[in-house]
Amino acid sequence: MNQDTGILIICIVACFHQASSETRVTGYIGQSVILKSGVDPSWKLERVQWSIYTNTTYIAIFENGKVETRSSRYKGRLSLNESSGDLEIKELKADDGMRYTVSLLSTTYKQQDNHISLTVLEQLRKPDIVVLYETLVKEDCIIALKCSSSKNNNILSWTPANESSLPFVSGKISSNVSELWMHFTPNRKVTFTCTATDGQRSASEQITVQCQEETLKTTPQPGCPTVMPAPCERYCHGIVASLVLLAFVIAIASFKGETDTLSTPLLWGARRRTHVLR
Ligand SMILES: *[C@@H]1O[C@H](CO)[C@@H](O)[C@H](O)[C@H]1NC(C)=O
Ligand SMILES: *[C@@H]1O[C@H](CO)[C@@H](O)[C@H](O)[C@H]1NC(C)=O
Ligand SMILES: *[C@@H]1O[C@H](CO)[C@@H](O)[C@H](O)[C@H]1NC(C)=O
Repeated sequence: MNQDTGILIICIVACFHQASSETRVTGYIGQSVILKSGVDPSWKLERVQWSIYTNTTYIAIFENGKVETRSSRYKGRLSLNESSGDLEIKELKADDGMRYTVSLLSTTYKQQDNHISLTVLEQLRKPDIVVLYETLVKEDCIIALKCSSSKNNNILSWTPANESSLPFVSGKISSNVSELWMHFTPNRKVTFTCTATDGQRSASEQITVQCQEETLKTTPQPGCPTVMPAPCERYCHGIVASLVLLAFVIAIASFKGETDTLSTPLLWGARRRTHVLR
């Protein structure tokens, strides 16, 4: 058989095989994924052949009533369902992401080939939350939280738990960091959730914070913007960012003519100002 005949035969099989489709599937490293054979449920399967590469390297076969998995790269990680023809790949690796082909043959000798493109992504990690700033100024507990994700393109968002009345401002500080600033009465426990989303999946982390009057009495109030002592310096970038955010929020709120009350952590010394927005 010369090369042209070979190509012609491949073309007849590939180009004129009507019952063929391509499905996209996403899996995550370390997890399992099921590649659906796409078989017509009315079929009783005589033979199922799962293969990879264009040179048709078989990785799992169901034939003569027996399942055989024969690839060293998937050793112990494949399971083929005899009735559905579905192939499960366990403990996904990054290089499992490729095009899979399944050839199906029914007991009545009907045939079908389907293609599945598997994309393997890194698992979404939980974001980290740290307390950035915590102080008690005249019966007002001011806390700043920082949420960061290990990936740059994740979207970070904050949600309060049963604290819909709590005033807070939050915003993106850099491509993978979001900060939240809030104030409330001392000894009240406040819970916030930070959620990282990559468009397909989400992962969340939660934190509960409170200012305790006794412990904070000993902490001197930092005179941040003017004096800038060592621990304060670390937070100034955040404070500046929050002031910008706060100004932004106030501007928007005033513009809308809302009547919420927001007290601003504008002066980090002894004074505290309360803005009533209208
Ligand atoms: C099929 O191709 C893959 C990679 O392209 C190669 O590793 C494998 O040895 C080939 N198998 C055969 C039977 O030629
Ligand atoms: C095989 O697939 C069928 C049909 O989808 C399902 O009902 C059955 O539970 C599967 N068997 C296993 C072992 O997963
Ligand atoms: C932000 O993402 C980069 C990589 O994209 C990473 O190196 C860095 O550690 C991340 N920052 C934080 C705070 O997780």
